[in-house]
Amino acid sequence: MIRYPAIVLVALACATPALGADANAGKNTFRRQCALCHSAEPGDNGGAQGPNLNGVFGRPAATDPRFGYTQALKGSKLTWDAATLNRFLAAPTTVVPGSAMVVAVPDDNDRANLIAYFQGVKEGTFQASGPPPQFSPPPSTNAGPPKGEADWKKDVPGRVHRVNVSTLPAPFDSPSASNFPKLVERPASADRPDRYPWHNHLIGLALANADYTEALNQINAGESHDCSHNEGRRRNDWELRRGQVLLKKDAGAAVDVFNRLVARTPDDLDLRGKVVETLLSAKQAAAKTIAEESLALARKQNNRDREGYFAELADAAKRL
Ligand code: HEC
Repeated sequence: MIRYPAIVLVALACATPALGADANAGKNTFRRQCALCHSAEPGDNGGAQGPNLNGVFGRPAATDPRFGYTQALKGSKLTWDAATLNRFLAAPTTVVPGSAMVVAVPDDNDRANLIAYFQGVKEGTFQASGPPPQFSPPPSTNAGPPKGEADWKKDVPGRVHRVNVSTLPAPFDSPSASNFPKLVERPASADRPDRYPWHNHLIGLALANADYTEALNQINAGESHDCSHNEGRRRNDWELRRGQVLLKKDAGAAVDVFNRLVARTPDDLDLRGKVVETLLSAKQAAAKTIAEESLALARKQNNRDREGYFAELADAAKRL
């Protein structure tokens, strides 16, 4: 009659965490001393310098698949039951010499609480009381701030700074801080970023009507669309087109455009060819300089094909 309850008590003591252990106090300790490197619950914002400890209770040592453990811990053959955790946390580098886990928990109660926390999380019985505590600096052993007047000298570990928003200077208070983000319409034909052919068609129509202003408007619209929707891939084509349209109205402005275009990608022999041909067909003397420069460049690049081509263009330009 007397022995029966005693057996029940022993069984209970084995199944539950150490008497008086407080899983919530364990969580507080964990947040302060372990969370820098470990996570123990999903989304607890713990660090990743150490393995994930969510579900560590009862787990064989060194088995978080995402963590690169030391050989020492891998070879330890430990399983994290309450007794082993208790031994390990009291003196980790003594229990597993060579382990990279060096943070000891000397206080018996702290260890019991931590283990109760791990066990509660593993078994799904852990219930947090109140909001999670924040990281806090270790208690200062410093008698006081170092002497001196400069502001930083008044700083000591553990000193809390309070920022009072209402006393902050003006920029925080600027009216734009309350601007709300706004949604804009998806641009038309966002899936067709290159509109060169379309605008080019309209340019042709405008030129047929001798409407140079409209043709230049189309070029501006096309080039600006190319810039914002097509990473400016067609910029050279647009500038070439601009020069061609300008030639019909204002040759000086056109030559400026061509010179700038060539200067922008000086090694582009294809583009140079198009520019020289355009200038030649408009009988512009500027063709000569660009053709001769291009000829020299083709020679330098050892490009026989282009050398012959630019020699012909340079000849034609001389005869203008
Ligand atoms: C500075 C970082 C750091 C801190 C702080 C830290 N640990 Fe660790 N811990 C590690 C590293 C790294 C390992 C892996 C050790 C190895 O591979 O040898 C580890 C391993 C462990 C393991 C074994 C896990 C497994 O999967 O086998 C346990 C248990 C553990 N730590 C508990 C704690 C507890 C409890 C605290 C707080 C009291 C703590 N650690 C604080 C870095 C840390």
